[in-house]
Amino acid sequence: MAEDWEAGGFGLYVHWPFCAAKCPYCDFNSHVTRSVDHAAWRVALVDEVKRLGKETHGRVLRSVFFGGGTPSLMEPATVGAILDTVHAVWPTANDLEVTLEANPTSVEASKFADFHHAGVNRVSMGIQALNDPDLRALGRQHSAREALAAFDIARRAFERVSFDLMYGRQNQSLSDWETELSSALALGLDHVSLYQLTIEGGTAFGDRYKAGKLRGLPDEDLSADMYALTQDICASHNMPRYEVSNHATDGNESRHNLVYWRYGDYVGIGPGAHGRITAEGVRQATEQTRMPSAWLSGVSRETRENLSGTDQASEFLLMGLRLTEGVSKQRFTNLAGYALNEDKIAHLVDLGMISNTKDRIVVTNQGFTVLNGILRELLGA
Ligand SMILES: C[S@@+](CC[C@H](N)C(=O)[O-])C[C@H]1O[C@@H](n2cnc3c(N)ncnc32)[C@H](O)[C@@H]1O
Ligand code: SF4
Repeated sequence: MAEDWEAGGFGLYVHWPFCAAKCPYCDFNSHVTRSVDHAAWRVALVDEVKRLGKETHGRVLRSVFFGGGTPSLMEPATVGAILDTVHAVWPTANDLEVTLEANPTSVEASKFADFHHAGVNRVSMGIQALNDPDLRALGRQHSAREALAAFDIARRAFERVSFDLMYGRQNQSLSDWETELSSALALGLDHVSLYQLTIEGGTAFGDRYKAGKLRGLPDEDLSADMYALTQDICASHNMPRYEVSNHATDGNESRHNLVYWRYGDYVGIGPGAHGRITAEGVRQATEQTRMPSAWLSGVSRETRENLSGTDQASEFLLMGLRLTEGVSKQRFTNLAGYALNEDKIAHLVDLGMISNTKDRIVVTNQGFTVLNGILRELLGA
């Protein structure tokens, strides 16, 4: 019998934890450091691929994702060494997707051809905003012009290019966002990630917000309007949402992120990387040491935890309902050992939050604005 993870496939995530500067809104595991011993990182990351490759021997790898931090600061030779090892340890899908997150500065763009040569076939660029005052307010190291120039170089170098924008920024009006998003989509993208700016504790923005000094953020109503407008504009550009914040033309969805959202298995290596690995019928959550220096020293690099059936069923629902394709109720039952409550499902259908066909529940347009509430209702006792 097929194991549950096979419904989502199998991928590899590689975390590069360094950045040129720390952006004030960012709570990712990213660090600014004076020097990086690239040779030591190369050896350590390659060793991790080999170690976890043994454990997942024979699985067909669908995607590799270099995330960060700023992986475009890696040496292309490091990316190449990791990918060579990947091909030596796993059979790979014919259409293996290899994505690298890139910051759109000219320094990084000058390395794109080498990354492509190393085996990267998709780039995800953090453009964030298309005007210079906002980029400065976000602490970015690039201008809008530089970002668009990097995007053009990327488009020529790679088969597929996506970019990220953040909206709901300070003093951004609905019509500002409409103009910005429309001009972004006019570039003829095949994938775009559109995130509402969130203020995270422990970041510079978080501190400023607590002190009452981060003014001009949208209230709940404007945020909801911005999200709704985003859906309308993207749909009219043939880029419908396929996940809460991700849009693609047909067939250009991120295969890597689909592994997470369809609750497949993935190996996660590098500081703070998470993984899900099923072995002998037991799905484990893996987490690597967060601090880069401690990770590189190699002492107890990873912790593991067995996930119970209910843990897995909750994660499956949490991930799957983000997708417009929804989730299979039977798969939930197989994982949890019990079925979702049909009365609660019927109630959510009555409220117009989800639709319920024979085996699938799918969140509606209206439901996407209150996704956490839907999850609480379905998973609550
Ligand atoms: C791992 S991060 C950064 C990738 C790359 N280093 C960069 O900055 O372009 C991936 C994306 O998450 C988004 N992001 C990071 N912090 C965010 C926040 N506080 N609110 C909303 N989106 C955020 C940004 O759009 C960013 O491009
Ligand atoms: S947003 Fe990107 S560049 Fe900025 S600190 Fe976070 S990971 Fe680094």
